[in-house]
Amino acid sequence: MQVITVANNKGGVGKTMQCYQLICHLANKGHKVLAIDLDSQANLSTTLGVQIARTLIPEWLIGDVSIEDVVVPAEGKGKYVKNISLIPSSRHLANFSKLLIMSEGEIRKNAGRKERLMRLRLQQAQDLDFDYVVIDTPPMLGDELIMSLVASDRVLIPTQAQDYSIDGLEELMDTFEIIKETENPKLEFSIIPSMVNLRRKIERQRLEELSQSFNITPPIRNLVQMQESISVGRPICKMGKKSKGHQDYEELWRSLNL
Ligand SMILES: Nc1ncnc2c1ncn2[C@@H]1O[C@H](COP(=O)(O)OP(=O)(O)O)[C@@H](O)[C@H]1O
Ligand SMILES: [Mg+2]
Repeated sequence: MQVITVANNKGGVGKTMQCYQLICHLANKGHKVLAIDLDSQANLSTTLGVQIARTLIPEWLIGDVSIEDVVVPAEGKGKYVKNISLIPSSRHLANFSKLLIMSEGEIRKNAGRKERLMRLRLQQAQDLDFDYVVIDTPPMLGDELIMSLVASDRVLIPTQAQDYSIDGLEELMDTFEIIKETENPKLEFSIIPSMVNLRRKIERQRLEELSQSFNITPPIRNLVQMQESISVGRPICKMGKKSKGHQDYEELWRSLNL
């Protein structure tokens, strides 16, 4: 079971898009995928056709609700959907950090530290035989993101080729390094240029600068069809091979061995 977190402490950079396309790509290849939506805005849940009144993620991570009681099947057209399971979110997840503080004693008993909760729960879920777990995270360096990084094999970081995004990246990389040194030495990261407009000189320059500091993957372009993919619930892997989005993502998955 490979665990992949999609993260960036900035909002609107394409995290949920990345998750959705990756989940559908893996499921379409025949893998069994568990999607976990850790963002209280629940965009990934909605995109996978699931809206729930109240998420049980806190009870699963902190309390004694088992994974079987939080997982639901994804809804949508196409055979690949049957390979996708989801732990859905709702706006109640916004209280998660407060609940962690209130449950300190219980967490210490079960997991030692709150950072280890997700890893512990996923270890307990080994016999559900998921090939991949893909976690969508909220746009901040909070508990949800940190426990996901501790539980993951790799983190994908969609980044826009703009100054503010690149500044924010340094903060995220510091957190990444701390987690690698303390809880999770095997964690790997990939930076994915996202929503790129290669016709803009400034973006080409920023991309060039980014590639001098980090290893970056092939970029995903800013395309109207990517937004359509979300609004009609049809992943880019199910669009024609001639579609630009399809081509960008094929190249990305190849570069990441996914
Ligand atoms: N490659 C792309 N081309 C065009 N629009 C995109 C692309 N990737 C994401 N978007 C759009 O940008 C917005 C933000 O993306 P989203 O994945 O929700 O970001 P985040 O999860 O980081 O907040 C959404 O409306 C999404 O449909
Ligand atoms: Mg999102």
